Amino acid sequence: TPLTSLSELRERKLNGPKVAVLTAYDYPTARLLDEAEVDLILVGDSLGMVVLGLPDTVGVTMDMMVHHIAAVRRGVKRAPIIGDLPFHSYQTPEEALANARRLMEAGADAVKLEGGTAFIPQVRAIIDANIPFVGHIGMLPQSVREEGGYKKKGKTPEQADKLIADALSLDEAGAVAMVLESVVADVATEITRRVKSSTIGIGAGSGTDGQVLVTPDLVGGFPWFRPPFAKVRADIAAEITRAAREYVVECRG
Ligand code: KIV
Ligand code: NA
Repeated sequence: TPLTSLSELRERKLNGPKVAVLTAYDYPTARLLDEAEVDLILVGDSLGMVVLGLPDTVGVTMDMMVHHIAAVRRGVKRAPIIGDLPFHSYQTPEEALANARRLMEAGADAVKLEGGTAFIPQVRAIIDANIPFVGHIGMLPQSVREEGGYKKKGKTPEQADKLIADALSLDEAGAVAMVLESVVADVATEITRRVKSSTIGIGAGSGTDGQVLVTPDLVGGFPWFRPPFAKVRADIAAEITRAAREYVVECRG
């Protein structure tokens, strides 16, 4: 049976089954995923790219996140909802807490931000206010402009040590879960073994406590870019194109 509360993550980590997470940004998708027994629903700032047509997640604002979290909330009865804190919304602990509160008021059950050891003051401010917190380490899309692209993390021993240190500090601070994005599989497996919190991988191999995918990447909803690790299980784009073309032909008469 699917998760009904974040407090069940611990038991799932210890005894399985692994946790299945997908993203949603709107009411119908959220309702379908909830009814399909997806464990957790993430309103990710991938919103910027796959829904709003922005080049990356850097242009996503708090107002956008609030708007979409509220829509998802209206569609979900059971699955816990994680909301992303967007770019530059958590530069100080005070700002992180105020914005985490806004996402919770919009309907999130937990909030996520990108970063490890350097963001522990922000993470502590959120957790001290009894807001469930999810970490996100490895490839950090909000830093894509400084990094000059999306790259695999943990290939060198220095990078691996840094990732493990970040994971341990988030775990110590009390994160309920942490996303490991584009992390070398062996490093993701080692982190999973060493932390109490649940690791949710994306492009990080199969050794994590769960997996997350951007839903358009699962259903073929964003055909212009398809990440190599995503197994595409439907072709929504082709169906929309087909239906629209048939409609156009029929209207022309
Ligand atoms: O924004 C998002 O969809 C995410 C996932 C890729 C983990 O953060
Ligand atoms: Na995100």
